Amino acid sequence: MTPRTAPILASPGSSSRALPAPTVVTFAHPQGCRSYLVADATARRALAIDPHLDLVAELEARVRREGWTLDYVLDTHTHADHPSGSAALAARLGSVRVAHARAHHRGVALHPEDGQELDLGGLRARVLHAPGHTPDHLVVAVGNELFTGDTLLIGGVARTDFLGGDAGTLFDTLQRLLAELGDETVIHPGHDYEGRTESTLGAERRGNPWLALRERAAFVRALTANPPPRPTNMDDLLGLNREGHPIPAALPAAELVGALAGEGAARVIDVRTGVEFEGEHVRGSRSIPLHELAHRADEVRATPAPRLLLCRTGARAEEARRVLERLDLGALTVIEGGLEALRAAGLEPERGRARLSLERQVRIAAGALALAGAVFGFLVHPAFHALSGFVGAGLVVAGLTDWCGMGLLLARMPWNRAAAGAAPGAGGGCAAAAPVGGCAASAPGGACSLDGKRS
Ligand SMILES: [Fe+2]
Repeated sequence: MTPRTAPILASPGSSSRALPAPTVVTFAHPQGCRSYLVADATARRALAIDPHLDLVAELEARVRREGWTLDYVLDTHTHADHPSGSAALAARLGSVRVAHARAHHRGVALHPEDGQELDLGGLRARVLHAPGHTPDHLVVAVGNELFTGDTLLIGGVARTDFLGGDAGTLFDTLQRLLAELGDETVIHPGHDYEGRTESTLGAERRGNPWLALRERAAFVRALTANPPPRPTNMDDLLGLNREGHPIPAALPAAELVGALAGEGAARVIDVRTGVEFEGEHVRGSRSIPLHELAHRADEVRATPAPRLLLCRTGARAEEARRVLERLDLGALTVIEGGLEALRAAGLEPERGRARLSLERQVRIAAGALALAGAVFGFLVHPAFHALSGFVGAGLVVAGLTDWCGMGLLLARMPWNRAAAGAAPGAGGGCAAAAPVGGCAASAPGGACSLDGKRS
C-alpha cells in the first residue's frame, strides 16, 4: 500500500486523560520483545509500537480483523538486539512511520518533538523524548497507559553502554517520568524476559531496585559497573533497522566461519536430521530438522536474528528458507555449501556419537524391500515382484528429483527423532531462547537477576 504522505499531528497540550481509554493489544515474542497495538476502538484508528519483524503478520492480521486503520508505526528507538518490522508493517498497511529525528531511520516520515501528540481520532498519543538507553528514545503516553520501550522495564531499566547511551541521562529521564506521571500509570515495556506484560509506575516506584537509587552518581556508578555483553548480531540488525538493508538470503560459508566459532553459533538452525546432527554439528547450534520446522516455528522465533540456516550442502537450508518464509518468518540467511563448506573453510564441527546415517538407512531399507519382493514373488506369488518394481521406481525418482520419500519417512522414525537437538553443546532450550546481549541492564550490584537476563 502507498503510505499516507501527510503526517497527522494534533496540537500539543491537549490532555489525553479525559479521553476514552485505549484498546491495547500486546504481542509477546519468545525472545522477550514486546510489540503493541494501541487503538481508539470507536474511531477504529490504531498505532503500532515496536513491531518485531517476526510479529508483522500477526499484527497485520489483528488490524484487519478489527477493521482498524493503522495510522502510525512507531519505533521507540533504534533496536540493536532484534529486527524491527516497522518498514514491513507500514508498507503492508499504508502507515506513517514515526521515530525520533536522531534515529536517522530511512523511510521514516514523522519525527515528533517532545510532547507532540499523534491523532488517533478520539484518542491522542503523547510522545515524549526519553533519552538515556539511546539518544533517540521515545516513550508514548496514551490515556493512562505508558509505553516505555527500553527506558523502564518491569523491575529493571535499560542498559546504556552502546549506540550513544548515557546512564546519567537515563537517570534524568526516569526522574522526569516519575515526577510527571501518576502512580496509577500502567507501564508497558519493550522487553520482559519473565513473561510479564505490564506493571504500574507506583509498583515500580516501590519495587524496582533501580528507582530506589535516588542519587544520580550512585545510579550511574551501578549502571556502568558491569555491562552485559553486546549483541553479536548488532551490525546486521542496525543495517536493517536504520538503513533498510535486507538480510542477505545467502552468505558464503567462508565469511561466517569466524562468527560461528563464537557466539554467532547461537544463530544457527541446523535443518538436517537428528541423526546427522548428533553425528557432527556446529558447537552451540540448534537442531530443527526440515520436516519439523512448521510445527516448531516458536523455536525458530526464539533463535536470535539474523538466523543462519545450515544443512550438509545447502540444498535443504534453501528449502527451509522457503518453508519459513511461507510462515512469515524473516531474517533468514542460508549458509552456502552447508557444513561441508564450513569444514573446508576451517571450521571443525563438534563430533557426537556415530550413528547409522539416513542415507545408509535408505539403502538398507530399499535393498531389503527389493530383495523381499523378489524372494516372495518367486516363492509365494508373482504379484510380490511389483514391490521390487515400486522400490526401484522410487529410487529413480529420488535420484532425478533429489526428493526421497523413504528418507523423509525414516527421518520420522523414533530412533532418528530421539537425537534431534540432543547433542552436547546444542543451543536449544532456555539458553538459546534468552536474548543475545539484550537491552536490559543487570540488577544494581552486578548480579544478573531476573531483569538482567542476557547471553
Ligand atoms: Fe533497546
